[in-house]
Amino acid sequence: MECSWKTVLLLVCASLGVQYTAIRTLRDTLPGPCQGSFNCHTRQPRDSRWKAICEDTLLPVESPQKHILLFATTRSGSSFTGQLLNQHPGVFYVFEPLFHVQQAFTNTSSRLHRTLDRRALLGAYRDLLLNLYTCDLRFMENYIRPEPQEHVTGSFFRRSSSHALCTPPVCPAGSESVANGLPDETWCPKNCGALNLSLASVSCLSKGHVAIKTVRIPEIGDLRTLIEDPRLDLKVIHLVRDPRAILASRMMAFSDQFRAWKIWNATRRQPRYVDLSQITSTCKDMAASVEMGLQRPAWLRGRYLLVRYEDLAFHPEDKASEIYRFVGLKKDSRVWSWISQNTNSDACSPSEWNYRYSTTRDSRATAESWRRRLDFDIVNTLQNLCNDTLALLGYKQVHSLVQLRNMSYSLVEAQTFQPPL
Ligand SMILES: *[C@@H]1O[C@H](CO)[C@@H](O)[C@H](O)[C@H]1NC(C)=O
Ligand SMILES: *[C@@H]1O[C@H](CO)[C@@H](O)[C@H](O)[C@H]1NC(C)=O
Ligand SMILES: *[C@@H]1O[C@H](CO)[C@@H](O)[C@H](O)[C@H]1NC(C)=O
Ligand SMILES: *[C@@H]1O[C@H](CO)[C@@H](O)[C@H](O)[C@H]1NC(C)=O
Ligand SMILES: *[C@@H]1O[C@H](CO)[C@@H](O)[C@H](O)[C@H]1NC(C)=O
Repeated sequence: MECSWKTVLLLVCASLGVQYTAIRTLRDTLPGPCQGSFNCHTRQPRDSRWKAICEDTLLPVESPQKHILLFATTRSGSSFTGQLLNQHPGVFYVFEPLFHVQQAFTNTSSRLHRTLDRRALLGAYRDLLLNLYTCDLRFMENYIRPEPQEHVTGSFFRRSSSHALCTPPVCPAGSESVANGLPDETWCPKNCGALNLSLASVSCLSKGHVAIKTVRIPEIGDLRTLIEDPRLDLKVIHLVRDPRAILASRMMAFSDQFRAWKIWNATRRQPRYVDLSQITSTCKDMAASVEMGLQRPAWLRGRYLLVRYEDLAFHPEDKASEIYRFVGLKKDSRVWSWISQNTNSDACSPSEWNYRYSTTRDSRATAESWRRRLDFDIVNTLQNLCNDTLALLGYKQVHSLVQLRNMSYSLVEAQTFQPPL
């Protein structure tokens, strides 16, 4: 009796062992998806063969990679917001890769073909985004100048803004503690050497989320084919900001380009040659995207989150939680400590204030500083140009200089935009 019981147990064990070995062997003989830190779904997310093999193995399988687009406009607080994503260890974050595409196009196109160029440019933008989301960092070589040699480049735009590009395996010298603060633009290239795009791809494949920030896509409708692409699981965080604040920030950051505006601000007289078209189209594009997003067309449903920068600046923890829920990321201690360091002025060191893209400063104070920086005449003109956008997003107009400068009078109406269901 006792003996046969033991035999049964032995048989069961042996049979389990054989099965285990068989699965191991099968998996090990297959190239790619199941090996190393790469997760099963990264390369062939729709390929059921890989999926079945990987899911049946005894090793834990990560869920398919997810994609995040931080969709914004210049000087709308996107560097700050992007850092909320970049700080998470499970995110591969890239800061405005489309910069390189625009550079390459600007050099080769003539003004005559502008309409055609716009469509071609948008196509190239989407193409690059798709390749980056699938972790083909080498696709960037089509646009980076000077051309990378042996997949290595020293000209990757704003590499220092990406935690993953300044830490191992991409940068062996970049220990976590140093890269956490991302001190300035020069630290990473200085300490990490040129960027190996093959290694960047490996790092990308090891992360659960790929997040990209861009300020170069005009409207959310321009992203439709990308959002519908079956290879991606894309969610869009649409970051908006008070256009009056955007203008003030652009005037500070790009003073050459905004010389006429600066003269207007200083003299209180509008120069005839001041260009109103750029900020007007910023307002129009922003409104068009918000209207589209809130209408919730089928292709965008559950994939669109509207975030006002002011809400993020005033309630960073709450808004960050909302963003994290939306993109399906768990909270991470590094993110929360970054928030607490960057949302009160005490943590600010003087040298960082001078840096044009600095995010290390009091988000609350910067969100409202435009009210002290713009002459009322400019504000008034802008309110007329952008009145619909202001109303749509819940930004109040001011009717006098006193009201403009009275910081106890809030211009941001409480708004709850529809949840992304
Ligand atoms: C564009 O042209 C300028 C001047 O000819 C050159 O310095 C720059 O490197 C070029 N940029 C790209 C991305 O080709
Ligand atoms: C870049 O990284 C890849 C992958 O590790 C490696 O095979 C290649 O030799 C590296 N290239 C250079 C120029 O170091
Ligand atoms: C506008 O002028 C005021 C002084 O009148 C100055 O303090 C402010 O910085 C200027 N704003 C910009 C954006 O240049
Ligand atoms: C914005 O201004 C235009 C033209 O003055 C006007 O027709 C429109 O009703 C205004 N919109 C809002 C929301 O006030
Ligand atoms: C500033 O705004 C507050 C709140 O609306 C108001 O009570 C106060 O009277 C205003 N101050 C001035 C100087 O207008």
